[in-house]
Amino acid sequence: MGDIKAVITGVAGFVPEGIITNKDLEKMVETSDEWIHSRTGIKQRHIEKDPNKACSDLVVGAVQNLINKTGLDILDVEMIIVATVTADYPFPDTANIAASKLGAKNAFGYDINAACSGFLYALTTASKFIETGTYKKILVVGADQMSSILNYEDRTTCILFGDGAGAVLLEPSEGPHGIQDAILRADGAGAEFLHMKAGGSMSPATVDTVNARQHFVYQEGKVVFKAAIKGMSESISDLLAQNNLSKDDIDWMIPHQANKRIIYGVADFIGFPHEKVLVNIENYGNTTAGTIPLCLSDFEGQFKKGDKIILTAFGGGFTWGAILLEWNY
Ligand code: UT7
Repeated sequence: MGDIKAVITGVAGFVPEGIITNKDLEKMVETSDEWIHSRTGIKQRHIEKDPNKACSDLVVGAVQNLINKTGLDILDVEMIIVATVTADYPFPDTANIAASKLGAKNAFGYDINAACSGFLYALTTASKFIETGTYKKILVVGADQMSSILNYEDRTTCILFGDGAGAVLLEPSEGPHGIQDAILRADGAGAEFLHMKAGGSMSPATVDTVNARQHFVYQEGKVVFKAAIKGMSESISDLLAQNNLSKDDIDWMIPHQANKRIIYGVADFIGFPHEKVLVNIENYGNTTAGTIPLCLSDFEGQFKKGDKIILTAFGGGFTWGAILLEWNY
């Protein structure tokens, strides 16, 4: 133990075909393309329009794309961790449903619910199973079908989110690259500012909760905005200090894609050049646990072996953190 590093050996993304543009939203709520784009950076988001499709289908889409790219034999996969807040059902886990759909007969798995930081939590958890020598092939997937929990009459939230997923394959390596370190944080006191009011044990679903439209994302945007910049900036600074690195040693930053102003706010806070910050929010909006692996997938072609990459996220919980990794291929 100690000599094995967990390395990402493949990545792929998946989004459903349906698209809602800002112009489409102008017909649904009182908003404008100009407001949405200038305040968030978003132009469009992908939405699953088939009522028979759920989060597990996003997971399957991303993993299938990964299989097509890498030639992975699904029967070699030992574990599947799915980060999501939009599981197919309250139980069982979406990871198990997706494993069954994929034919991953030799894998067990579970979901991690850490909202927009879910992929960081899941990747860190999976890396420990690899570093200890317990497993050799783990799929880590961030997937959210946010359209299933959005109130399309609330312009403050429905314009922000989209559906999407990204998957990485994590394997052991004796080389120097791979996951180097992580800082994960949480503060449950933040729950009041970003949560779903009903549908859990605190407030089970009733006709009243449905009529009060309490099964949707509730967010106090301004509070979350400020906490997000602070949380991500501090976790990056702490991570750099803890690894005796300066911001100049980092090749790429991949932040959670919630708002372009938050993303560049974090970059400016730590003095990081904008051209090294990878952003694809324009095409997808905020896909919650899906944003970071979707970004890894979109920009994979730019990475060189040994590149130092920082992943960072902030979301409901509150949850936040940062991961330092070195690209392996
Ligand atoms: O991923 C999970 C974490 N989530 C986030 O990181 C999201 C954090 N928050 C945000 O990104 C931003 O706070 C929002 C994009 C949600 C809102 O941007 P803002 O610059 O904080 O706007 P605001 O809430 O201060 O609203 C400014 C104005 C208000 O009107 P008044 O009171 O100034 O007349 C809003 O009612 O904009 C209005 N407004 C809109 N106008 C057009 C709010 N939503 C919209 C809209 N279209 N969709």
